[in-house]
Amino acid sequence: MNYDTYYHICRQSYKGPSSVTDPAEFYKDPVRIIPLDSFGPAYLETVNVLAEKVRTDFDSGECVKNDGIMAKHFNIWKFEEELTALSRFLVPHLEEHRYGCHLYVDKIYIYRTMPMEQRVSSYEWHYDNNPDEVVKTLIYLNDVDPSNSPYEYLATPQGTGVLGVCTRRGTLDWTPAPNNSRVGHLIPKLSERGFEPTKVLGPRGTTVSFVNNSIHRANPVLSGYRDVVNIRVKPTFEPSPTYVSPAWTTGFETSGVVNRDPEKAWATKD
Ligand SMILES: [Fe+2]
Repeated sequence: MNYDTYYHICRQSYKGPSSVTDPAEFYKDPVRIIPLDSFGPAYLETVNVLAEKVRTDFDSGECVKNDGIMAKHFNIWKFEEELTALSRFLVPHLEEHRYGCHLYVDKIYIYRTMPMEQRVSSYEWHYDNNPDEVVKTLIYLNDVDPSNSPYEYLATPQGTGVLGVCTRRGTLDWTPAPNNSRVGHLIPKLSERGFEPTKVLGPRGTTVSFVNNSIHRANPVLSGYRDVVNIRVKPTFEPSPTYVSPAWTTGFETSGVVNRDPEKAWATKD
């Protein structure tokens, strides 16, 4: 089964609140900024607590591996309380307003981007090439301006995100992406047609939620630093007992590629 079919099935069984009347809505407007006041002060208080703990670890190198591309945190469970709290705000919002089905958190990345002479990896224009039904939400853990590595996405002339062509859609379609899903070579022509690279700037707590195949990149740090938490969700037919759990949520220690079988959902860690 492919993920789009599974998503439709998940929608049919979902009894929770939903403003998503047509599944086609999910695929429109793939990059969405969630307004800062959406979840009330407790959300931002949790972001503040997490941000201070994460900054301390990156400054000291505790639990951190720096691969020369970014500094990656290798123990998300140090922050289980804050990540659970943030997910309890974020995931129901996505269930109600983005998907109209149950979701669980399969991946959380915490990282600090870096200065970079030559763009490589996530600093190049790309899409992730997991199935489209996988959404990532970035939460900035410090204020971000043009100098400290804003997340950037490609927008249409109408201002909505743009999806790359996904080649990993489920058990029926699973092939490598052309050019390893790097699309920088297409940007100049698209710019001529009014497509616009758009940087997301904002204070600590700025939250941007995007279909993983939205064309995007990180920018190298010019000065300062940028810490983020990236919370990834997937549809599930059976609601999971908790959104986040060491039983089905992983970090940098395992591959970012989802299981090609959507029906495995939270029963598996990959
Ligand atoms: Fe990416």
